[in-house]
Amino acid sequence: AKKAVLGPLVGAVDQGTSSTRFLVFNSKTAELLSHHQVEIKQEFPREGWVEQDPKEILQSVYECIEKTCEKLGQLNIDISNIKAIGVSNQRETTVVWDKLTGEPLYNAVAAPVSPGPSDPVAVVPSGSSVPAAGTSSVWLDLRTQSTVENLSKRIPGNNNFVKSKTGLPLSTYFSAVKLRWLLDNVRKVQRAVEEDRALFGTIDSWLIWSLTGGANGGVHCTDVTNASRTMLFNIHSLEWDKELCEFFEIPMKILPNVRSSSEIYGLMKISHSLKAGALEGVPISGCLGDQSAALVGQMCFQDGQAKNTYGTGCFLLCNTGRKCVFSEHGLLTTVAYKLGRDKPVYYALEGSVAIAGAVIRWLRDNLGIIQTSEEIEKLAKEVGTSYGCYFVPAFSGLYAPYWEPSARGIICGLTQFTNKCHIAFAALEAVCFQTREILDAMNRDCGIPLSHLQVDGGMTNNKILMQLQADILYIPVVKPSMPETTALGAAMAAGAAEGVGVWSLEPEDLSAVTMERFEPQINAEESEIRYSTWKKAVMKSVGWVT
Ligand code: G3P
Repeated sequence: AKKAVLGPLVGAVDQGTSSTRFLVFNSKTAELLSHHQVEIKQEFPREGWVEQDPKEILQSVYECIEKTCEKLGQLNIDISNIKAIGVSNQRETTVVWDKLTGEPLYNAVAAPVSPGPSDPVAVVPSGSSVPAAGTSSVWLDLRTQSTVENLSKRIPGNNNFVKSKTGLPLSTYFSAVKLRWLLDNVRKVQRAVEEDRALFGTIDSWLIWSLTGGANGGVHCTDVTNASRTMLFNIHSLEWDKELCEFFEIPMKILPNVRSSSEIYGLMKISHSLKAGALEGVPISGCLGDQSAALVGQMCFQDGQAKNTYGTGCFLLCNTGRKCVFSEHGLLTTVAYKLGRDKPVYYALEGSVAIAGAVIRWLRDNLGIIQTSEEIEKLAKEVGTSYGCYFVPAFSGLYAPYWEPSARGIICGLTQFTNKCHIAFAALEAVCFQTREILDAMNRDCGIPLSHLQVDGGMTNNKILMQLQADILYIPVVKPSMPETTALGAAMAAGAAEGVGVWSLEPEDLSAVTMERFEPQINAEESEIRYSTWKKAVMKSVGWVT
């Protein structure tokens, strides 16, 4: 059959904590033409540890590209129309790999071992176990709590040393401490650093290096948004910070080059893992941490525009323009985007909630009260209330606005009447209450309350969740018909890059996207009562770990 002719297309890799996707958009209308998604395993080898396999992540990217190209073929769309590829990714997750072999340097030792002189594999602190084969430490991982405590005792100058340079609190969340842990605990990493073979990167760096040739000339880079989540990057000078690297004792030679979010980093190289050879030579020209990508995909280019993305966690970002605004209420200051080498940098205030979609996954995988994530909506709908049950899913402590590592999850307010439907409802409400806490902090920091909230992410397909969110925030919630704004943002950055020029970042470029609006439907008093009871529950979750 004759293949349909289209305008330029742009592909985007969206590599998240729970899944990987490859999506292809029409650059003229932002229409999503085809995509494929693969779920990613998360390992929990010890309490508080969260790991993923970088090779599985890479393989999932290849699989998604291949399957999406196949689907485009079935639609009679010629994949040679794909003119650029963008990458958006889960941030902070830390990988160290060997630049000569392309192998991640986290080792294949499954149980606690005491390495002998002939065992060059790992250095294991006593009582500790070694991570599984080729893993990366994920952003939710808590193993570095004691590293953070030790570091905080020797912060030079004043307590603002890290925050004033990076916009971030000293926390297990960010890459520097995960990297410190790897350097302290994995002999292969230490040896590769000594022998100049080690490269560090967040997932964007690992993917771009691999997709542009890996050990055969791969490009070792990251963008300003991802760099701003490492705790090693100075968000004012837009460079790796020598003092921070000294403080965390990170050798600067293993860090990637920092580039803008929209420029040609390198070209796709064919790989034995990638049958879709037709993408060979396509420039990779967009790179943004997933939350920044969503901000771009939602066209939040003006001061004061904000979006909330519902993924594994929830991330509310408000564009603060060219100004770095430092929060008084527990929010992070982060790089929003820099769309071109010579373009200005924009900043954002961010409220991060650690557990949102992850609570649904937990109900599915750990409690088994639902078989698929979508079933939660049916359960919650059956009762339409939590019947006084509150669920604080502080599995990894509380992030913004509390930054309370001692918190752990609780379900409270149970009676003999409570059933799994109420717990399901309470889990959805928890996502909304956590967002309300962030929005309140954002309103206090920005001075001008948000009039509505732009939302995106997989969970926004859940209509009960969206209605609950409008009720609990007491402002309208606005959702684009195409919820894949993270991938869209990465595609836009890739298509707009100098030398590609197929996307102009003007509002009319999103003509295929329509909006759905959810208005508050309960009264303000009821909304307040529920919110204040939630706060009581949060207080009960604090202090479980000392
Ligand atoms: O900061 C972590 C965030 O980037 C992860 O996003 O959607 O993969 O949970 P997500």
